[in-house]
Amino acid sequence: MNAKPELKDATVAVGKALAHDSAARHVTGTALYVDDLPEPVGLVHVAPGLSPKARGRIDKLDLAAVRKAPGVIAVLTAHDIPGPNECSPSIGGDPIIADGVVEFHGQVLFAVVAETRDQARRATRLAKVDIDEEAPLVTVEQGLAAGAQVLDPYEFRRGDPAEAIGKARHTVSGAMLVGGQEHFYLEGQISMALPGEGGEMRIIASTQHPSEVQHLVARMLGRPDAMVVCECRRMGGGFGGKESQAGQWACLAALAAHVTGRPAKMRLDRDDDMIATGKRHDFLIEWRAAHDGKGVLDAVDVTFAGRCGYSADLSLGVNDRTMFHADNAYFYPQVRIHSKRVKTNTVSNTAFRGFGGPQGMVFAERLMDQIAARLGVDPLEIRKRNFYRKGRDITPYGMRVEDNILKDVVGQLARTCDYAARRAKVADFNASSRFLRKGIALNPVKFGISFTLIHLNQAGALVHVYTDGSIQVNHGGTEMGQGLYMKVAQVVAETFGVDISRVRITATATDKVPNTTPTAASSGSDLNGMAAREAAVQIRGRMAELAARLWQGDARKVRFAGGKVIVGGREIDFAEVAKKCFLERVQLSASGFYATPKITWDRANVSGRPFLYFAYGAACSEVTIDTLTGEMRIDRVDILHDVGSSLNPAIDIGQIEGGFVQGAGWLTSEELVFDGNGRLTTHAPSTYKIPTAFDVPADFKVELWQSKGNREATIYRSKAVGEPPLMLATSVHSAIFHAVASLKPGAVPQLDAPATPEAILRAIDSVR
Ligand code: MTE
Ligand code: MOS
Repeated sequence: MNAKPELKDATVAVGKALAHDSAARHVTGTALYVDDLPEPVGLVHVAPGLSPKARGRIDKLDLAAVRKAPGVIAVLTAHDIPGPNECSPSIGGDPIIADGVVEFHGQVLFAVVAETRDQARRATRLAKVDIDEEAPLVTVEQGLAAGAQVLDPYEFRRGDPAEAIGKARHTVSGAMLVGGQEHFYLEGQISMALPGEGGEMRIIASTQHPSEVQHLVARMLGRPDAMVVCECRRMGGGFGGKESQAGQWACLAALAAHVTGRPAKMRLDRDDDMIATGKRHDFLIEWRAAHDGKGVLDAVDVTFAGRCGYSADLSLGVNDRTMFHADNAYFYPQVRIHSKRVKTNTVSNTAFRGFGGPQGMVFAERLMDQIAARLGVDPLEIRKRNFYRKGRDITPYGMRVEDNILKDVVGQLARTCDYAARRAKVADFNASSRFLRKGIALNPVKFGISFTLIHLNQAGALVHVYTDGSIQVNHGGTEMGQGLYMKVAQVVAETFGVDISRVRITATATDKVPNTTPTAASSGSDLNGMAAREAAVQIRGRMAELAARLWQGDARKVRFAGGKVIVGGREIDFAEVAKKCFLERVQLSASGFYATPKITWDRANVSGRPFLYFAYGAACSEVTIDTLTGEMRIDRVDILHDVGSSLNPAIDIGQIEGGFVQGAGWLTSEELVFDGNGRLTTHAPSTYKIPTAFDVPADFKVELWQSKGNREATIYRSKAVGEPPLMLATSVHSAIFHAVASLKPGAVPQLDAPATPEAILRAIDSVR
């Protein structure tokens, strides 16, 4: 099916290390984000009023003083919404504006529309709110104890692990907390709504999912989808935080435009953005496992309790993906993977790079480290003993791992980073160091590519060739810095055999390519690249036919290369052929479509194939910790990562570096703290520590795995790269674990994530 577009062209664009199309604009400040666009005449500004309490009934919402405040034009409440008061991406339960009850601190109670943003924000402070408060469920433990859930539990099972573990001679058990993560996109949530004639509405939003914004706004206004358009040129980062949760702010902007009849802009303040939008799910993970005495697993029984917050949002897919990655690279012969989707009175947690997968992988890697520490064996040895391989390659969800290259990837990285010698050096250092300790770890990553909700695995594209030979491309994917636009432009340039400078990618918009799915699950270039390729191939076919007719050639032998159309022994300029197409009335525009083949996942029956393929990688991290202060430094990182045949090695390496550093931040310094009343106390960079350039390891080497490319027929045999590298950062957490474990051979440190200095000190206490 997906082998249809033939994949052999004279390489002009694909595979080249070209700079991101907006690189120069990013650094010179000329890339336009929503807030940079010229403001239309009459623009009003919207600011939300947030709940001061986490849980309770709204007894009184007195907005009289708000309405009278300077510059205020309107105050929006749930009663102003013409259609359903709902912005859920899934099963419902996410009011645009709270109505009657509040379920988390920071929930939107009302919104102020004013002449300036400052006036709108000031006015929100004047509300008099009485909430009949109930004790909130804040932590995952509190939610579990109350039996609160947003969705039913789900389970993968093979064999009878409980019995096997009960009878086994060699067992381990443990529990750990894995923290959440704030997206900290540099551009916060923002939307601008432009009312048109006859009830039309155009939304310019920072969103990974323009079609969902379109649908939510249309439904809220009680209008057909066809009257609403959503457009996104780029985001200043999304990282999953704008997959579903851009919707609410777009709805508020649209509601303000609807009520006032004026264009409206809704830009969240940074603190409000951190308080009122969801984060990575944090987890309590508990497990028992049995092995054969040499560390080869026989049975694993693990329960993941994920804090979903107050509503379902994307929690079904996120928690499922945690389960899909609880094995990472390892075969669990008998297994039970149980997942609880815990409800709490906190903001609804959402997609975040890896979509739950990283939390599953942190468990798998801890299990390896725990067994290694107990047995006093090199953890890399334990990892290798448990790798999937022929005859042991069926995952807990029943999919066969057909494309496993980890043995080779890990083997090569171990050699090039000199793992064995460095591990010996680390041991020497630790034997003679009083307060400083070192740790080193080499961890693999295996990440499943495809949305596990099958219908999301589709994309459309629209390609136009103009009569001067320039080309416009539009597709359903969104640009958030990951380089998707560039990659798709390269695919189109390659297909037409023209220079990349001829290809212009235009802003993603629901009136150009409709019914799109979110740019997520790392599948942006897999899906949209194929759709754009398909559209370009159609036009190329028509151009070839005409060229053959006009210049006496064989249509099947016409080639497109170097900006020329080569036909019947002649080379004709691409632009000339385009011009001739117009004169001969041949259509120079086409839409393309792609649906991922082979995937058959059936969630209800826990069967079928959820992923088209896996992306692989490995990282070796070396760290030093100070056992007196708990401080930690990453000394060196070596990465070998598999992107198949790279569409663009420069962009891919950027994704790997950025993903790794973001993962290291999650696992070491980024700590979300909620107080007992459910208030997020870390709602600004002053209290929430993301990695900076200074936290990037000084010695940081990234290599791409060289191969013949993806064994599946993906776009030019490339592999998805957006999320998998984040999980390479488990090697940092494992290295810290080993540094602490070195204090007492045989002991298993209780190291939670993030491994902040406090957590490292607690882990040190746990072994002393
Ligand atoms: N890279 C940058 N610079 N900014 C982002 O917001 N998001 C990540 C990843 N890389 C992100 C990024 C996430 S969560 C995903 S799912 C993918 O990019 C989405 O894009 P892709 O499918 O085109 O790789
Ligand atoms: Mo990425 S978490 O799939 O948007």
